[in-house]
Amino acid sequence: MKFFIDTANLAQIQEAEHLGVLDGVTTNPSLMAKEGIRGEENILEHYRKICEIVPGDISAEVIATDYEGMILEGEKLASLSPQIVVKIPMIKDGIRAIRYFSEKGIRTNCTLVFSAGQALLAAKAGATYVSPFIGRLDDISNDGLGLIADIRLIYDNYGYNTQILAASVRHTMHIIDCAKIGADVITAPLSAILGLLKHPLTDSGLEKFLSDAKG
Ligand code: G3P
Repeated sequence: MKFFIDTANLAQIQEAEHLGVLDGVTTNPSLMAKEGIRGEENILEHYRKICEIVPGDISAEVIATDYEGMILEGEKLASLSPQIVVKIPMIKDGIRAIRYFSEKGIRTNCTLVFSAGQALLAAKAGATYVSPFIGRLDDISNDGLGLIADIRLIYDNYGYNTQILAASVRHTMHIIDCAKIGADVITAPLSAILGLLKHPLTDSGLEKFLSDAKG
Protein backbone atom coordinates (compact mmCIF):
# COMPACT_ATOMS: atom_id res chain seq x y z
CA MET A 1 0.00 0.00 0.00
CA LYS A 2 1.31 3.44 -0.96
CA PHE A 3 1.54 6.17 1.69
CA PHE A 4 0.76 9.75 0.66
CA ILE A 5 0.75 12.72 3.03
CA ASP A 6 -2.34 14.93 2.89
CA THR A 7 -1.00 18.44 3.47
CA ALA A 8 0.54 21.46 1.78
CA ASN A 9 2.78 22.16 4.79
CA LEU A 10 6.37 21.93 3.54
CA ALA A 11 7.88 21.16 6.98
CA GLN A 12 5.50 18.23 7.47
CA ILE A 13 6.11 16.98 3.93
CA GLN A 14 9.87 17.14 4.60
CA GLU A 15 9.47 15.25 7.90
CA ALA A 16 7.40 12.50 6.27
CA GLU A 17 9.89 12.26 3.39
CA HIS A 18 12.78 11.87 5.86
CA LEU A 19 10.99 8.88 7.40
CA GLY A 20 11.67 7.07 4.11
CA VAL A 21 8.20 5.59 3.61
CA LEU A 22 6.49 8.36 1.66
CA ASP A 23 5.21 7.68 -1.86
CA GLY A 24 3.52 10.98 -2.64
CA VAL A 25 1.55 14.05 -1.57
CA THR A 26 -2.07 15.12 -1.93
CA THR A 27 -3.26 18.69 -1.52
CA ASN A 28 -6.53 20.50 -2.01
CA PRO A 29 -7.52 24.19 -2.15
CA SER A 30 -8.37 24.18 1.59
CA LEU A 31 -4.96 22.74 2.52
CA MET A 32 -3.25 25.34 0.29
CA ALA A 33 -5.27 28.15 1.90
CA LYS A 34 -4.33 26.84 5.36
CA GLU A 35 -0.68 27.48 4.47
CA GLY A 36 -1.57 30.96 3.17
CA ILE A 37 -0.86 29.98 -0.46
CA ARG A 38 -3.22 31.93 -2.72
CA GLY A 39 -3.09 33.15 -6.32
CA GLU A 40 -2.10 31.13 -9.40
CA GLU A 41 1.63 31.94 -9.45
CA ASN A 42 2.07 31.24 -5.72
CA ILE A 43 0.17 27.97 -6.03
CA LEU A 44 2.28 26.81 -9.01
CA GLU A 45 5.47 27.77 -7.16
CA HIS A 46 4.31 25.83 -4.09
CA TYR A 47 3.73 22.70 -6.21
CA ARG A 48 7.26 23.09 -7.64
CA LYS A 49 8.65 23.14 -4.09
CA ILE A 50 6.66 20.03 -3.11
CA CYS A 51 7.95 18.20 -6.21
CA GLU A 52 11.52 19.04 -5.16
CA ILE A 53 11.00 17.54 -1.68
CA VAL A 54 9.18 14.32 -2.68
CA PRO A 55 10.09 12.30 -5.80
CA GLY A 56 6.65 10.57 -5.94
CA ASP A 57 3.17 11.49 -7.20
CA ILE A 58 1.91 14.97 -6.28
CA SER A 59 -1.85 15.59 -6.64
CA ALA A 60 -2.59 19.18 -7.69
CA GLU A 61 -6.25 20.21 -7.73
CA VAL A 62 -7.96 22.37 -10.36
CA ILE A 63 -10.19 25.21 -9.17
CA ALA A 64 -12.26 25.48 -12.38
CA THR A 65 -15.51 23.53 -12.51
CA ASP A 66 -16.24 23.84 -16.25
CA TYR A 67 -14.72 21.46 -18.81
CA GLU A 68 -12.62 24.05 -20.71
CA GLY A 69 -11.38 25.63 -17.49
CA MET A 70 -10.37 22.27 -16.02
CA ILE A 71 -8.47 21.33 -19.20
CA LEU A 72 -6.61 24.66 -19.27
CA GLU A 73 -5.72 24.52 -15.58
CA GLY A 74 -4.92 20.80 -15.60
CA GLU A 75 -2.55 21.14 -18.55
CA LYS A 76 -0.75 24.00 -16.83
CA LEU A 77 -0.40 21.95 -13.63
CA ALA A 78 0.74 18.83 -15.52
CA SER A 79 3.42 20.84 -17.35
CA LEU A 80 5.10 21.65 -14.01
CA SER A 81 6.49 18.13 -13.60
CA PRO A 82 5.81 14.53 -14.69
CA GLN A 83 5.13 13.90 -10.99
CA ILE A 84 1.94 15.97 -11.08
CA VAL A 85 -1.37 14.12 -10.96
CA VAL A 86 -4.26 16.44 -11.89
CA LYS A 87 -6.96 16.33 -9.23
CA ILE A 88 -10.44 16.75 -10.70
CA PRO A 89 -13.76 16.93 -8.81
CA MET A 90 -16.44 14.26 -9.29
CA ILE A 91 -18.84 16.31 -11.41
CA LYS A 92 -20.18 15.86 -14.96
CA ASP A 93 -17.56 18.07 -16.61
CA GLY A 94 -14.95 16.49 -14.34
CA ILE A 95 -15.66 13.04 -15.80
CA ARG A 96 -15.26 14.45 -19.32
CA ALA A 97 -12.00 16.13 -18.28
CA ILE A 98 -10.69 12.85 -16.78
CA ARG A 99 -11.44 11.08 -20.08
CA TYR A 100 -9.60 13.86 -21.98
CA PHE A 101 -6.53 13.69 -19.74
CA SER A 102 -6.53 9.90 -19.76
CA GLU A 103 -6.42 9.91 -23.59
CA LYS A 104 -3.54 12.43 -23.48
CA GLY A 105 -1.58 10.28 -21.01
CA ILE A 106 -1.94 12.83 -18.19
CA ARG A 107 -2.63 11.15 -14.86
CA THR A 108 -5.67 12.15 -12.79
CA ASN A 109 -7.07 11.82 -9.29
CA CYS A 110 -10.87 11.99 -9.13
CA THR A 111 -11.70 13.72 -5.84
CA LEU A 112 -14.77 14.26 -3.64
CA VAL A 113 -15.99 10.70 -4.15
CA PHE A 114 -18.64 9.55 -1.68
CA SER A 115 -20.36 6.61 -3.41
CA ALA A 116 -19.53 3.40 -5.26
CA GLY A 117 -21.40 4.68 -8.33
CA GLN A 118 -19.15 7.75 -8.50
CA ALA A 119 -16.08 5.51 -8.18
CA LEU A 120 -17.36 3.30 -11.02
CA LEU A 121 -17.78 6.35 -13.27
CA ALA A 122 -14.27 7.59 -12.42
CA ALA A 123 -12.78 4.22 -13.36
CA LYS A 124 -14.72 4.08 -16.62
CA ALA A 125 -13.44 7.57 -17.50
CA GLY A 126 -9.86 6.32 -16.98
CA ALA A 127 -8.91 8.02 -13.70
CA THR A 128 -5.49 6.99 -12.38
CA TYR A 129 -6.68 7.41 -8.78
CA VAL A 130 -10.10 7.69 -7.17
CA SER A 131 -10.34 9.48 -3.80
CA PRO A 132 -13.20 8.31 -1.55
CA PHE A 133 -13.36 10.60 1.54
CA ILE A 134 -13.82 8.12 4.36
CA GLY A 135 -13.57 10.49 7.35
CA ARG A 136 -16.23 12.84 5.99
CA LEU A 137 -18.58 9.87 5.49
CA ASP A 138 -17.94 8.71 9.06
CA ASP A 139 -18.67 12.28 10.20
CA ILE A 140 -22.25 11.96 8.93
CA SER A 141 -22.73 8.42 10.31
CA ASN A 142 -22.07 6.72 6.95
CA ASP A 143 -19.63 3.83 6.58
CA GLY A 144 -16.42 5.23 5.06
CA LEU A 145 -14.53 1.93 5.20
CA GLY A 146 -17.58 0.10 3.80
CA LEU A 147 -17.28 2.33 0.74
CA ILE A 148 -13.62 1.35 0.29
CA ALA A 149 -14.65 -2.33 0.46
CA ASP A 150 -17.44 -1.80 -2.12
CA ILE A 151 -15.11 -0.02 -4.55
CA ARG A 152 -12.44 -2.75 -4.10
CA LEU A 153 -15.05 -5.40 -4.98
CA ILE A 154 -16.30 -3.51 -8.03
CA TYR A 155 -12.83 -2.71 -9.39
CA ASP A 156 -11.70 -6.33 -8.88
CA ASN A 157 -14.85 -7.67 -10.57
CA TYR A 158 -13.91 -5.89 -13.79
CA GLY A 159 -10.14 -5.48 -13.48
CA TYR A 160 -10.18 -1.68 -13.46
CA ASN A 161 -6.68 -0.25 -13.11
CA THR A 162 -7.85 2.86 -11.25
CA GLN A 163 -6.13 2.93 -7.86
CA ILE A 164 -8.22 3.41 -4.72
CA LEU A 165 -6.73 6.33 -2.80
CA ALA A 166 -8.44 6.43 0.60
CA ALA A 167 -8.67 10.12 1.55
CA SER A 168 -9.99 12.08 4.51
CA VAL A 169 -8.13 9.56 6.67
CA ARG A 170 -8.22 10.76 10.26
CA HIS A 171 -6.37 8.21 12.42
CA THR A 172 -4.25 5.08 12.52
CA MET A 173 -7.18 2.63 12.53
CA HIS A 174 -8.39 4.09 9.24
CA ILE A 175 -4.94 3.28 7.77
CA ILE A 176 -4.88 -0.26 9.17
CA ASP A 177 -8.45 -1.02 8.05
CA CYS A 178 -7.74 0.37 4.57
CA ALA A 179 -4.71 -1.95 4.37
CA LYS A 180 -6.90 -4.93 5.39
CA ILE A 181 -9.52 -4.10 2.77
CA GLY A 182 -6.91 -3.60 0.06
CA ALA A 183 -6.92 0.13 -0.69
CA ASP A 184 -4.03 0.85 -3.06
CA VAL A 185 -3.09 4.12 -1.35
CA ILE A 186 -3.91 6.05 1.82
CA THR A 187 -3.40 9.77 2.15
CA ALA A 188 -3.20 10.89 5.74
CA PRO A 189 -2.02 13.72 7.95
CA LEU A 190 1.49 13.33 9.40
CA SER A 191 0.01 12.65 12.88
CA ALA A 192 -1.82 9.53 11.63
CA ILE A 193 1.27 8.20 9.83
CA LEU A 194 3.48 8.76 12.90
CA GLY A 195 0.76 7.24 15.09
CA LEU A 196 1.50 3.86 13.47
CA LEU A 197 4.87 3.87 15.28
CA LYS A 198 3.39 3.88 18.73
CA HIS A 199 2.95 0.94 21.09
CA PRO A 200 3.45 1.06 24.88
CA LEU A 201 5.05 -2.42 24.87
CA THR A 202 7.66 -1.15 22.38
CA ASP A 203 8.47 1.74 24.73
CA SER A 204 8.64 -0.37 27.91
CA GLY A 205 10.48 -3.18 26.07
CA LEU A 206 13.11 -0.77 24.78
CA GLU A 207 13.50 0.83 28.20
CA LYS A 208 14.18 -2.62 29.71
CA PHE A 209 16.65 -3.58 26.95
CA LEU A 210 18.56 -0.34 27.44
CA SER A 211 18.69 -0.64 31.22
CA ASP A 212 19.80 -4.33 30.97
CA ALA A 213 22.47 -3.34 28.44
CA LYS A 214 23.92 -0.88 30.97
CA GLY A 215 24.16 -3.76 33.48
O1 G3P B 1 -7.43 15.83 0.45
C1 G3P B 1 -8.75 15.43 0.57
C2 G3P B 1 -9.14 14.86 1.93
O2 G3P B 1 -8.15 14.02 2.40
C3 G3P B 1 -9.61 15.88 2.94
O3 G3P B 1 -9.67 15.37 4.23
O4 G3P B 1 -9.86 15.74 6.67
O5 G3P B 1 -10.60 17.56 5.09
O6 G3P B 1 -11.92 15.48 5.32
P1 G3P B 1 -10.57 16.07 5.38
